[in-house]
Amino acid sequence: MTSSHVGTPGAGSADQDTERAAVTVIGLGSMGRALAGAFLAAGHPTTVWNRTLGKADELVAGGAAAAPDAAAAISASRLVVVCVVDSNAVHAVLEPVRESLPGRVLVNLTSTTPEQARATAAWAAEHRIEYLHGAIMVPTPMIGDADALVLYSGSHQAFDQYEASLTAIAGDGTYLGGDAGLASVYDVGMLDIFFTGMTGFLHAAALVGADGISASTFLPYAQRIGELVQQTMVELAADIDKGSYPGDQDNLEMEQAALEHIVEASAARGIATALPRLVQTAVSDAIVRGHGRDGFSSVIEVLRARSRAS
Ligand SMILES: NC(=O)c1ccc[n+]([C@@H]2O[C@H](COP(=O)([O-])OP(=O)(O)OC[C@H]3O[C@@H](n4cnc5c(N)ncnc54)[C@H](OP(=O)(O)O)[C@@H]3O)[C@@H](O)[C@H]2O)c1
Repeated sequence: MTSSHVGTPGAGSADQDTERAAVTVIGLGSMGRALAGAFLAAGHPTTVWNRTLGKADELVAGGAAAAPDAAAAISASRLVVVCVVDSNAVHAVLEPVRESLPGRVLVNLTSTTPEQARATAAWAAEHRIEYLHGAIMVPTPMIGDADALVLYSGSHQAFDQYEASLTAIAGDGTYLGGDAGLASVYDVGMLDIFFTGMTGFLHAAALVGADGISASTFLPYAQRIGELVQQTMVELAADIDKGSYPGDQDNLEMEQAALEHIVEASAARGIATALPRLVQTAVSDAIVRGHGRDGFSSVIEVLRARSRAS
């Protein structure tokens, strides 16, 4: 199960098809250090490199090899993981050393847009690099956990070959398909819910806080609504996929009144109204389009139309 630490890629390389393949981690920010630490903890011979010196010290003390430059880091392992701040940084690091990469498997765990992921996949194909894109869906303290989620897309062969190794960083590594942009599509979709959901809670905390109710007092009630949103997503998803928006349990005309209450109560307390107004406007636009007696899921028609217009 062990493998050579510094080796050459390609057929016969000792690090293939083993659970403890040699791995190189490029980028030692908080996430890169967590990834390298998890590979080390799982027994992978781990080589690290970072643009700025000094960030490898703790990892080296834990058994990692610090490469003097990016090219040496890449030469150390067939499996090369890159996790830097953004897509521009990925190319700033890899472009000058691209001749070291053919025959390697590049796993890019940097958060990007789907378009950037696809562009990097095209760049990798041009340079005969096997490319797997990954979207890390957990914070650094969860790296290495059995239920940590990382989404992958791109080279199926690369995923199959290194799936066992990648469980060192996330027990729940999910392969989505051959289009390298897919992991980022799911990433932005999930983060859309995360950020708008958190902002919804912050707005509500400001609203009730204006009447002297602390966020902690409000929390259990907020969580009840969070559970309801989670359950409601099941029906919304079914409606969206069918393209029909039954309004027998709820309808937009009724919901418009509730939204007006939120806007009015916010304005009366000097709380920002932009967020509830955004939803209110989407609902009124849907009503203008004839969805007044349809369910809330019909608002997707307005959101889709806006995305096409912008
Ligand atoms: N932290 C999290 O909880 C988390 C969760 C999910 C996803 N992610 C994703 O993981 C990626 C890394 O995040 P992080 O938290 O590790 O960020 P970070 O702590 O800010 O580290 C950024 C890393 O990028 C490197 N870098 C920046 N510009 C560079 C350039 N032009 N050339 C070479 N290297 C460059 C930095 O090198 P220097 O040290 O030399 O500046 C550092 O290694 C991001 O895409 C982030 O969205 C992070």
